[in-house]
Amino acid sequence: MKLVIHDLPPQAWDSIKNKYDNCTVVFDKGTIHPCTGCFSCWNRTPGQCVIHDGYENMGKLIHDAEEVIVISRYTWGGFSSFVKGVFDRSLGYVLPQFELVNGESHHRKRYEEDKPFSFVFYGPRFTEEEKVHARRYVEAVCTNIRGTVKETVFHECSGKTVMVGRTYTPPGKTVLLQASMRNRNSARLAQKLAAKLETETETVALREYLNDLPALIRRLWDASTIVLCTPLYVDGLPSLLIRLLECFAAEYHGAGKRIYILANMGLYESRQLVNLFSTVEQWCRAMDFTYCGGLGISAGELIGELMKFLPFHSGTIKEIAGGMDELAEAIDHSEIIGEIHREPYRFPRALYILIANTNWNRTAKKNGIRPRDLYRRL
Ligand SMILES: Cc1cc2nc3c(=O)[nH]c(=O)nc-3n(C[C@H](O)[C@H](O)[C@H](O)COP(=O)(O)O)c2cc1C
Repeated sequence: MKLVIHDLPPQAWDSIKNKYDNCTVVFDKGTIHPCTGCFSCWNRTPGQCVIHDGYENMGKLIHDAEEVIVISRYTWGGFSSFVKGVFDRSLGYVLPQFELVNGESHHRKRYEEDKPFSFVFYGPRFTEEEKVHARRYVEAVCTNIRGTVKETVFHECSGKTVMVGRTYTPPGKTVLLQASMRNRNSARLAQKLAAKLETETETVALREYLNDLPALIRRLWDASTIVLCTPLYVDGLPSLLIRLLECFAAEYHGAGKRIYILANMGLYESRQLVNLFSTVEQWCRAMDFTYCGGLGISAGELIGELMKFLPFHSGTIKEIAGGMDELAEAIDHSEIIGEIHREPYRFPRALYILIANTNWNRTAKKNGIRPRDLYRRL
């Protein structure tokens, strides 16, 4: 049996559904909750999500399928917020432990299989550049969740194009938007950045607007600069942040803004943030906002912990602090900085992987889970 994950409106689905007879279908019921980043699918109920909204069994559904077909509106280089939400909630399909895959750190497989994934992107029209972005993105997703890309196709269909704002950037406040559902690494990094900025700054937590994104957009209306302080989720932005960008595109008709990124991720190589940066860049282009680049930090869980007790400009985190200085200066002077990538200073990747893998076992034990049950297959 094949598994179809799609975000099509009911009428569009009805017109093609006979092609997918006998498939298991995951569609937008309007109930999906964004991943909260609690990692319970790894260390409390291994393989399964603890949010019971009808999307808690994605890991098993993927495992049970002979092939996964993903149909998504092309959304700035990747998936729509709904499809991305499904992928974020599929984290339990892989194990928490890291290993090297083609010279990069990735998660180990929970199931010994090479699941084929087919992707169908639809949208009003596709440039060659957009196709390159989408292909690169699904390759990264499949490498990360340890499947394989069978094919990627593009389907042009009529649809609304994004509203374009004016290019003038008004003087206004700087908002640091903390985009994680957790109050942890992105929040700590945002706090450090706020302390460095001379510009008047406000920090806003996206999760507080979970059920009222339009209210958040109104709050961001008169910001001239927005800094997206976000974790990397399945090689892209977390689904709730994509949903905010979608709402922005649908609702905002104002002037241009400057957009910066302060991103962090769990794996070791900061180059894996490439698709996240490029989604924000494409969104800025569509909105006529100025994409200013930003800072991408790897090994975020380690950095987040060390930041609690190490002076910021010392030891393993000093490179991060240097990058943060550059970012703060660029924001204060309204400059474009490109994309700065930073990794822990003089901290070998093998040691990072060893510590991370040991920690997962330790956390499971604390939660009353035997380490061997972390590997359970559903
Ligand atoms: C659903 C989910 C998906 C993730 N995907 C990735 C990923 O693709 N690559 C990566 O390096 N880290 C990934 N991470 C790890 C987070 O980026 C990392 O833990 C980060 O420090 C979390 O930041 P926060 O504390 O602000 O939420 C993922 C975490 C979650 C919960």
